Amino acid sequence: MATLLQTNSHLETEYRARTPGSARLYAEAARVLPSGVTHDSRALNPYPVYVARAKGPRKWDVDGNEYVDYYGGHGSLLLGHAHPSMVEAVTRQIELGTHYGSSHDAELRWAQLINRLVPSAERVRFTASGTEATHLAIRLARAFTGKPKILRFTGHFHGWHDQVAAGATSHFDGSTPIGILPALVDQAIMLPTDDVDRVVAAIEARDDIAAAIVEPSGASWGTVPLPPDFLRRVREVTARRGIVLIFDEVITGFRWSRGGAQAHFGVIPDMTTLAKIVAGGLPGGALAGRREIFDQLDFAAMKAAKREKVQHQGTYNANPICAAAGVAMLSIIEREDVCEQACRTAETLRDGMRRVLIEEGVPWGIYGDRSAFLVFVNPAGLAIDPATFDPLALGFKGLKGTRDPNIAARLRVAMLANGVDIMGAPGGMVSATHGPEDVARTLDAFRIAVKWMKAEGDIRG
Ligand SMILES: Cc1ncc(COP(=O)(O)O)c(C=O)c1O
Repeated sequence: MATLLQTNSHLETEYRARTPGSARLYAEAARVLPSGVTHDSRALNPYPVYVARAKGPRKWDVDGNEYVDYYGGHGSLLLGHAHPSMVEAVTRQIELGTHYGSSHDAELRWAQLINRLVPSAERVRFTASGTEATHLAIRLARAFTGKPKILRFTGHFHGWHDQVAAGATSHFDGSTPIGILPALVDQAIMLPTDDVDRVVAAIEARDDIAAAIVEPSGASWGTVPLPPDFLRRVREVTARRGIVLIFDEVITGFRWSRGGAQAHFGVIPDMTTLAKIVAGGLPGGALAGRREIFDQLDFAAMKAAKREKVQHQGTYNANPICAAAGVAMLSIIEREDVCEQACRTAETLRDGMRRVLIEEGVPWGIYGDRSAFLVFVNPAGLAIDPATFDPLALGFKGLKGTRDPNIAARLRVAMLANGVDIMGAPGGMVSATHGPEDVARTLDAFRIAVKWMKAEGDIRG
């Protein structure tokens, strides 16, 4: 892995001094795991921290350092780490068996909770991940409409399978990523989201689109927010043209509101992909949606319609342990105001971070919707006033198309060295367990991090 961090860097020296145990484990890991990691986004220079345990909004590394955690299990931990209800549900289920290869009560309760919470969820099919959920959604949409093309939006991430690999984290020009068949990339129509009239016109002009798939937060959980009215206009034109509208709510599901982004924005898709929170932080996903579309999976319905059924298998679909965690998580979300609580804390955090930027004279921006926060680190050195920063004015190119991974990585390392773990966007997810003490610690860490970065020439503009 290339060394992105400067040598003689104070923040790197501080980080290394605090984390010798992580450095040792990383040296071993690099001999067996590519880049020493198990997910592209977990790679970090000079090395990532190795976590030994976690509870609520905090986690502790192998050297005993404590972190306020905003990685939140890649956004899956709305109730923080090791929530007592989740621990109890999973422990109980392990003793009852981990895999029956049969139907079981928890999968039914889990599907019923999704059905009650998510407005579009007339039917549910479980998968083992969000990637599998978007894969199945595309297959069902093609079977239902008999059409080939999938309308995607530049920079929107739908997992790592081949059909959605181009244009999500790279290859924004529509070119083909290595390892992917060009013929698959050709089956997607990729459009930017900044001009909704253009999107509507493109949909009106074609007759070969099976589905449109969108992150209803905007690309990468709001890194590139959608213009106002985008979802409503796309819903209107797709309904009129018989195109299946898929909301990818793998992040926003049960986070933007207890009914997801669709309930929050009042725009109801035909199908919804879910993962992360839906399985209580354990591996699991689901596809939910309109009954007529799900009939493609139904043996009797397809026999009656004299149509071929869509195939769908998966050893770990509705695995009992994940189902138990999912039922525990969704039951709390149904009963309690946890989504709103996380959103309120995130708003306080965003306000505080913005204040730090203003006080320290840093031309960056703080933004993000609901319980997410994002930091615009201004790689091009634009004249940004943090008090009035408007992400929509920068568009895709400014916000995601020309990200500087070096500055984001250095902010991550500086925050880790001060006891806070954020995601690489850079940004993070707030849980219902984060409170005033976590926010205060985070703001102190952020202030020191930007001071260090200013001193080391990372802050442009
Ligand atoms: C919006 C969105 N869709 C799909 C996925 C893929 O989910 P998974 O990692 O469970 O395969 C992710 C993962 O981060 C995501 O953020």
